[in-house]
Amino acid sequence: MDKEICQELGTKIERRLFDALAAEAPLVPAIAGSLLASGGKRVRPLLVGLCCRLCGAGITPETLDAAAAVELIHTASLLHDDVVDGASLRRGVPSANVKWGNSAAVLVGDFLFARAFTMLNRTKHPDIPRIFAEAVESMAEGEVMQLGVDGVSSPSIERYLQIVYRKTAVLMAAACRCGAILGGGGRERESALESFGRELGMAFQFVDDILDYRADPACSGKNGGGDLRDGKLTLPLLYALDAASDVERQDMLGIVTRPEKSAGAFRQVLEFVESRGGFERAREEARSRIACACRNLEQFEDNEAREALEDLAHSLGERDF
Ligand code: IPE
Ligand code: IPE
Ligand code: MG
Ligand code: MG
Repeated sequence: MDKEICQELGTKIERRLFDALAAEAPLVPAIAGSLLASGGKRVRPLLVGLCCRLCGAGITPETLDAAAAVELIHTASLLHDDVVDGASLRRGVPSANVKWGNSAAVLVGDFLFARAFTMLNRTKHPDIPRIFAEAVESMAEGEVMQLGVDGVSSPSIERYLQIVYRKTAVLMAAACRCGAILGGGGRERESALESFGRELGMAFQFVDDILDYRADPACSGKNGGGDLRDGKLTLPLLYALDAASDVERQDMLGIVTRPEKSAGAFRQVLEFVESRGGFERAREEARSRIACACRNLEQFEDNEAREALEDLAHSLGERDF
C-alpha cells in the first residue's frame, strides 16, 4: 500500500494503536506490543479510514480510535486463534502462545477485546459498538463451528462458506460500515460499503487458505500446512474433492481426517488438490468475489480513496504471501 493516502493514514493509526496498549499489567503491552511490532498488513483499520474518506469526511480522532479498535479486535482474535490452532509462528516470529504460554495469550486477547470496546464506546455513534459486538460474536461462532466437534460438521462447501463468513468476512464488513458511519455516508452508502467489506473478507480468507498450502513460511510468517494438520477442510481441498471420483474422494477423506499426517501424506494431498484444479478454482472464486466487492464502489465518486480501496482489494485477491 504505497499510496499517499494509505501512508498518511497508516502513520496515524500506528501511533494510536501503540498508545492503546497502556495497562497496569506489564505483560499486556509486552505481548500485544510485540505482536503489533512484528508486522501485519493493517487491512482492517485501513478499511475504516478509507471508507470514511470515501464518504467525504476527514480523519478525526474518533475515526482513529475506531480504526485502532478494529485492529485490536483482530489482534485479540489472532492471539486466541493461534492457541486454538496450535500455531507456533505468527508474522515471522514465535507466536505468543509459544513464547508466553496459552494462558497469557488468551488473557491478553481478552484484555484487547475489552480495550477495543472501551475505545469504540468513545465514538459518539451508538451503532458502532453494537456492530462490533455482533461481529465479535460472529467471529467466535465461526471459530467454534470450525472446531468440528458439534456433530454437524460433515465437510461441505456450504458449511465452509458459513464459517468463513463468520470468522473473517463479518469483521471486514463491520470495519467498512463503521468507516461509512463516521464519514456520514448515510444508510445506502453504509450498506454498499458493508457489502464491499463482506465480499473482500470472503476472498481474503479463500486466499489465506490457498496460501496455507502453498506459501513459503519465510514469506507468510506463518506455519505452512497447519490447516491440513488440524483437519480443516478448506476451499482448495473441497473443490478438489468435488472434482474427484467417489473412490478417490473416500481415499482422500481417509487421509485428511487421520489425526497424524506424515510428510508423505501432506505431499499426496497437495498433489491431489493441484491435479484436481482446487487451487485454481479457489483463486478464481476469490477473484470473482473481489470483482463483486468492487462493484459496490461504483456509486462513489472516483477519488483517491476509491482508487486505494480498489487497489487494496485487487492486491489482496492476488497476493502470494
Ligand atoms: C489473518 O489475518 C487472519 C485471517 C483472517 C486470515 P491477516 O492476514 O490480516 O493478518 P495480518 O494482520 O496481516 O498479520
Ligand atoms: C482466521 O483463520 C482466523 C481468524 C479470524 C482470527 P486462520 O486460522 O486461517 O488464520 P491464520 O491463517 O491463522 O492467520
Ligand atoms: Mg489460524
Ligand atoms: Mg489461515
